[in-house]
Amino acid sequence: RKRVVVFISGGGSNMAALADACAAPDFPAEVIAVFSDKPAAGGLVKAAERGIATYTFERRAYAGKAEHEAAILVALDALSPDIICLAGYMRLLSADFIRAYEGRILNIHPSLLPLFPGLHTHQRALDAGMMVAGCTVHLVTEGMDEGPVLAQSVVPVLPGDTVDTLAARVLTVEHRSYALALRLFADGTVRIGADGRVERTGYASDPAAT
Ligand code: GAR
Repeated sequence: RKRVVVFISGGGSNMAALADACAAPDFPAEVIAVFSDKPAAGGLVKAAERGIATYTFERRAYAGKAEHEAAILVALDALSPDIICLAGYMRLLSADFIRAYEGRILNIHPSLLPLFPGLHTHQRALDAGMMVAGCTVHLVTEGMDEGPVLAQSVVPVLPGDTVDTLAARVLTVEHRSYALALRLFADGTVRIGADGRVERTGYASDPAAT
C-alpha cells in the first residue's frame, strides 16, 4: 500500500474521505499522517479520531516561507511517503518543495479546471452564469491549480444557488472524486508518462456524479 500524507488547513472533510476510503482492505493506499498549517483546523480532530498521526506547522512559528517549508520537508522525509494529497491546504508550495516530491503531489480544487483557478472559485462560477460546476483532482506543478488532470466530477448549478449551496454540492462530489483519483493513481491505472502527460488505462471520472 502506498503511504500517503494529507495536507490540510481547515475542516478536513476531504482528508476524512480519503482516510475512510483507505480503510477498505483492498484500497491501494493508506493515510499515515496529516499535516496542518493551522493548529485550530477541524481536520486535526477528524484525523485524531481515526488514529492518524497529526503534525502542525504554523507559518508564524518560522522566520519565513523557506524555513516553514524546510521544517515540513524534514518531517515529511522522515515518514518517506509515496504520495502527498493536498486537501484544502491553503498555501502555495514553492517550486523547490514541489521538485522534492515531483509527480507525487495531488491537489483537489473545487472547480472544473482550467476554469476558475485560485480563490473565490464558486462566486466566479456563479458570476459567469455557469450551469455546471464541479471539482478537479490534479497533479501539482509549479503553476497554481495547473498540472495534469487525474479526475473530475460535475454537478449542476441550480436556480437560486449561493456560494454556500454550490460549495456544499461540489464538496459532496469532491469526496468521491478524490478517493477515486487516489485509488487510480496509487494502483497505477492513471499515471504520468515520460512526456509528462497523463496515461490512463481506466476511466477516471465519476459516472455517478455526472
Ligand atoms: C474543498 O472544497 C477544497 O476543494 C478546497 O477547500 C475545501 C476544503 O474542504 N480547496 C481549495 O480551495 C484549494 N485552493 P475540506 O477541508 O473540508 O476538505
